[in-house]
Amino acid sequence: MKESYNWGILAPGKIAGKFASDLASVNGANLYAVGSRSADRAEEFAKKYGFQKSYGSYEELLSDPDLDIVYIASPHSHHYRHTMMALEAGRNVLCEKAFSHNRIEVEEMIEKASAGSLFLMEALWPPFQPSYRMARDVIESGELGEIVHLRSHFAFVAPYDPEGRLYNPELAGGALLDIGIYPVMDALSFMGVPKLISAVAGIAPTGVDHTIDIRFDYGNGRTASLYASIQSWGGTATEIFCTKGKILLERGTGKGQICQISREGKETVTERWDTATNGFEHEAAEVMKSIGERRCQSSVVPWSFSIDLITILDSVRGKIGLIYPGELKK
Ligand SMILES: NC(=O)c1ccc[n+]([C@@H]2O[C@H](COP(=O)([O-])OP(=O)(O)OC[C@H]3O[C@@H](n4cnc5c(N)ncnc54)[C@H](OP(=O)(O)O)[C@@H]3O)[C@@H](O)[C@H]2O)c1
Repeated sequence: MKESYNWGILAPGKIAGKFASDLASVNGANLYAVGSRSADRAEEFAKKYGFQKSYGSYEELLSDPDLDIVYIASPHSHHYRHTMMALEAGRNVLCEKAFSHNRIEVEEMIEKASAGSLFLMEALWPPFQPSYRMARDVIESGELGEIVHLRSHFAFVAPYDPEGRLYNPELAGGALLDIGIYPVMDALSFMGVPKLISAVAGIAPTGVDHTIDIRFDYGNGRTASLYASIQSWGGTATEIFCTKGKILLERGTGKGQICQISREGKETVTERWDTATNGFEHEAAEVMKSIGERRCQSSVVPWSFSIDLITILDSVRGKIGLIYPGELKK
């Protein structure tokens, strides 16, 4: 394993700032370069977070021969294009969620990484959080019996802005790809791929879903109920109902999370974590660890997981009739 890896940030927006401030705390991560469509924005971001170099185009960033890993934080609509550019330039990639518009694009990204023996991971941060790992360990131990139902929601109010990333179909906006992906991910992680999917949506004037309500049927009464909205308050929580107990997970982006475990006939136990970071340091460390072990994919968020996830998201979009104008491959 190399002693340190040169990280680059492609598209220095809001989440890139949080990621960069966490990256500074990760052993072996060198804050190397920033690439923006604007040289001024790149320079300002580089100065603010302590990166050595800044570039006024993504192409210049990606062609820097000393760049080892690039974190792609552009809107969903551009993940395919930017990931393919980075892989073609020979860079390892951590790309924000949702990985791309649809399964065909995600499969092509994975094929490209595989063909070039490069690392690629979807930046799904919750599986790396201590609360999530605790829940997974308890479920896997079998002490709570079988999972019968999972209920998960992610909701906040985003003021309507037809041009903004969340409501703009050109940027692949909408509740499902932006935040609904997390409840779907939890159901997929803990219960697997459902047999049947149904969904209803509230549609914004721009045509994207502002609210999505999804039901997974696993057969024999086992179900998941998933809700996401950018037009109602509610925060983030996941409850896992089992034959011998229940788990409650609450985790906003970093800075405070809980895992509460209720066991049949016993007192409820609540574990809390309050961290100074946003929680992105774990996924960054995973990228470097995997590359150091000469692996092209993470064992925590493997390619098969991202393919199952996007397949479900495609299916949900099919139920609500949502097609993005910018879908590059259909
Ligand atoms: N993991 C998490 O917890 C989390 C949280 C929030 C968001 N995200 C994900 O992170 C990604 C970015 O979200 P964000 O909230 O950071 O977005 P944002 O603040 O709007 O930043 C996106 C950046 O992408 C670049 N960009 C490139 N082409 C663009 C275009 N056509 N229109 C607008 N921007 C464009 C811009 O940077 P330059 O022009 O300077 O290059 C912009 O600053 C999304 O995939 C989102 O789902 C993840």
